[in-house]
Amino acid sequence: GAIDKKLAPQPENDKTTQLAAHTADGAGEKMNTNTGLPINDDQNSLKAGDRGPTLLEDFILREKITHFDHERIPERVVHARGSGAHGVFQVYESLADVTKAGFLNDPKRETPVFVRFSTVAGSRGSSDLARDVRGFAVRFYTPEGNFDLVGNNMPVFFIQDAIKFPDLIHAVKPEPDNEIPQAASAHDTFWDFISLMPESAHMIMWAMSDRALPRSYRMMEGFGVHTFRLINAEGKSSFVKFHWKPLLGTHAVAWDEAQNISGKDPDFHRRDLWDAIESGAFPEYELGLQIIPEEDEFKYEFDLLDPTKLVPEELVPVQRVGKLTLNRNPDNFFAETEQVAFHLGHIVPGIDFTNDPLLQGRLFSYTDTQLTRLGGPNFQEIPINRPILPVYNNQRDGFMRQTINKGKTSYSPNSLGNNDPQQVKEAEGGFVSYRERIEARKERLRNKSFFDHFSQARLFFNSQSEPEKNHIVDAFTFELGKVKTIAVRERMLGILAQIDKGLATQVAYGLGLHLPTEISANQSVSADGAPADYQSVQVE
Ligand code: HEM
Repeated sequence: GAIDKKLAPQPENDKTTQLAAHTADGAGEKMNTNTGLPINDDQNSLKAGDRGPTLLEDFILREKITHFDHERIPERVVHARGSGAHGVFQVYESLADVTKAGFLNDPKRETPVFVRFSTVAGSRGSSDLARDVRGFAVRFYTPEGNFDLVGNNMPVFFIQDAIKFPDLIHAVKPEPDNEIPQAASAHDTFWDFISLMPESAHMIMWAMSDRALPRSYRMMEGFGVHTFRLINAEGKSSFVKFHWKPLLGTHAVAWDEAQNISGKDPDFHRRDLWDAIESGAFPEYELGLQIIPEEDEFKYEFDLLDPTKLVPEELVPVQRVGKLTLNRNPDNFFAETEQVAFHLGHIVPGIDFTNDPLLQGRLFSYTDTQLTRLGGPNFQEIPINRPILPVYNNQRDGFMRQTINKGKTSYSPNSLGNNDPQQVKEAEGGFVSYRERIEARKERLRNKSFFDHFSQARLFFNSQSEPEKNHIVDAFTFELGKVKTIAVRERMLGILAQIDKGLATQVAYGLGLHLPTEISANQSVSADGAPADYQSVQVE
């Protein structure tokens, strides 16, 4: 209430102007029906007498209730709960040597953006403070089309191949018989899957760390996760990892705080983001790039195409190349935050994909799910999804088509129409996929370079401070403590033992279990399962 809205400037750019054309403000206006009829009374239905039955004839009643009856659309199948904000991006210096992407070439250009932060597992109404991965999806509205960087706040992922994604999500979502638990990973099916999926070892360490409990969306890193390609004007490609670095630093809350907040204010992150922007304390993030020359593709012990691995910053430093500023709250949550349809397949010339098998599957999934979620093939015409430039192609019709395409023809080639759109030459900016040479056999296999599941999980654990390590031990102990099936807990201890014996032993101790013998055989564990150096480690 006390916040002065005038503090937040109303930015003007191509996207805000475009959105304004679709914005309605009823203040002081006359009420009418959807066909424009002035409404005299929308508080009393039309009845036969003042105590009589309501008449079917009452089209004002029917229209009002019919619209209400259809107000809900399906929530996202993952990342259902989120919060959005508008902003701008500006690159510090031209990156033309590595990419021809226009928004990364011109330091004077302010690119409009829309961002959506989210949790992954919970439904639309779940708590912001669940122990979970956070989505960090950024759309750049550029004159060459929309570029979406659909990332998370952790740099790696649970699985190496998109074909496992439905299994992962079925395991983490509430159990199918009783729909318990809401927005939490503390249950049997999730840990059953993780314990059977050693490739998830690295990600589960991040997911049990402080990174899963951000203090604020303003204090969270973002990562594109996959290796992408940058392409310059000469057609030369480099590999790239995308990062977002919050200028406020990366901060977390403790687990007991998280649980308290979930009870007292499940909108904690949403409110924090909204209030910060309303008060003019605009959240800022620097775009970071790790650029890897194409010649270095096989230089590392891990595979650049493996999304369960990061590129250590010691090997390839993160260059900070530009800044994202979130400076305007949405006008309408549903129209903007709920209807925005991000997709890592939305790219612009100068950026391209790699053969990461998780990335490749995502290319199919997003548009496919949005066809259902947003009701058919015309969802790119929804104001928040429209590119800032007009769209001309031969696609036509479908539910809720908005554009009135002129002319007699909607096919190419054609000699009859005089207004059919023309293809764009590569030299004039037409998109051409990177001409990567592929010589291969078709097979359902993974390269051996994807098989080291534990080194980077260990690297992550070792990078943590003592209190952070303790939080990880506590998180595993808490979450596994909710697992009813003892065999699942034990199998998970087996995974942990391969990451770090001390970690596994402390979690086993917390759970009152012994490490599985085949894994704990060659380590010093006391009779009750506590690690020999247990006393020196403070477990809260
Ligand atoms: C939604 C990130 C892997 C399918 C999202 C969103 C983010 C995200 C941030 C929310 C977008 C929004 O705010 O609207 C990621 C990351 C991944 C990953 C970083 C791994 C690196 C996958 C995979 C699949 C998938 C492997 C499927 C094969 C989906 C679907 C949605 C979604 C279906 C809902 C989209 C919608 O309804 O609009 N993902 N995801 N994701 N993701 Fe992913």
